[in-house]
Amino acid sequence: MISILQGKKIVLGVTGGIAAYKAVELLRLLVTGGAQVQVVMTRSAQEFVTPLTFQALSGNPVHLGLFGPDADPLEHISLAQEVDALVVAPATANCIGKLAAGIGDDLLTTLILAATRPILICPAMNVRMYENPVVQENLERLRQRGLAVMPPDMGEMACGAYGSGRLPEPAAIVETLAGLLSPKDFQGYHLLVSAGPTHEDLDPVRFITNRSTGKMGYALARMARRRGAKVCLVSGPSSLAAPLGVERLMVRTALEMQQVLLERFPRTDALLMAAAVSDYRPASFAAGKIKRGSAEMMVNLTHNPDILESLGALRTRQVMVGFAAETDDIQAHAQQKLERKKLDMIVANDVSAPDSGFAVDTNQVTLLHRSGVVEALPLLSKDEVADAVLDRVATLLADVPK
Ligand code: PMT
Repeated sequence: MISILQGKKIVLGVTGGIAAYKAVELLRLLVTGGAQVQVVMTRSAQEFVTPLTFQALSGNPVHLGLFGPDADPLEHISLAQEVDALVVAPATANCIGKLAAGIGDDLLTTLILAATRPILICPAMNVRMYENPVVQENLERLRQRGLAVMPPDMGEMACGAYGSGRLPEPAAIVETLAGLLSPKDFQGYHLLVSAGPTHEDLDPVRFITNRSTGKMGYALARMARRRGAKVCLVSGPSSLAAPLGVERLMVRTALEMQQVLLERFPRTDALLMAAAVSDYRPASFAAGKIKRGSAEMMVNLTHNPDILESLGALRTRQVMVGFAAETDDIQAHAQQKLERKKLDMIVANDVSAPDSGFAVDTNQVTLLHRSGVVEALPLLSKDEVADAVLDRVATLLADVPK
């Protein structure tokens, strides 16, 4: 769920490139995220995809031109005043050139000239066109005027060439747009986030783990990045893609996670520890695969270090937030962890509830503050939980001298 888009008025500008078909999926994601989207197509975009496709998906008539029997000559002004953000995807070299030169000769370019809200330009074209110095100069002029330009992806193009110029995936464009719409209250802060399970090896083919997928920690990293933080995500094994703009360091075991976090902790302003770290690991690692025998098998386990406690010993100014995965007596157990690990806040979740905790996209949490304040939040998406946690971290950071 991309809650930041809920109710937002977005203009999606589509220009005439082969990647125009990807704008259909982009529109679908924006609408699914709750945005109200007005699509503006240039004349050449209509050669690639029909307006009817965009009309059906957006639920709104598609805006096609400045003139004509159905056109409102002041539409560019009214649309520009109403929107929260504009995204042009794909943006051709022609459209980019016109915008850089201040030309407004169709509805889309006049609309962008009149707009005062965030504008995201997503160039897509052949690699040699994209690398042409005049296109690069035009993009630089747009950046200097405050427009956001999303770098195209590398890969094979429709013309068979290989290089930079492919329109980024629609989900990545939505993420970038969400970042433009988010408050930037974490600008200048470094956040360290842990996520996912750990794998504790028993032999070359077996390990002890838990049911964490990384969803909660990845949501924290993604939302913190949207809000302007520099984020380092230390992730145990997870199938999730790295959030856009986040530095991700993959680890397997609790010991590896501890080592990476210890190294990064001194450079961080706040630590958000959502990883489900295994408290134990096999006492010894069998170099060969353990064979099936007739007798029962015993596995000796040894303690893993408590990573939060070891980081607490190095703490200078850092805000520290832990998570507590509980199945019973949730608040009391979380309170003990808050105190023992000397945290500023702990996020307690009931991992026995079907819509909370491991693997699902929602979570119901109680926030326990060191000050004694306890806040029970309703069932929310993990993105919303992450935002709520970050709101509290922003308040805590405001009290820390930089
Ligand atoms: O990844 P998902 O599928 O989205 O699931 C999310 C989650 C349930 C994993 C997440 O919301 C969560 O609760 N994470 C913490 C899980 C956990 O390990 O809880 P704990 O109560 O065992 O540990 C308390 C705190 O100490 C945690 O911040 C943990 O990271 C930390 N810890 C635990 C053990 C250890 N050896 N070192 C630690 O630092």
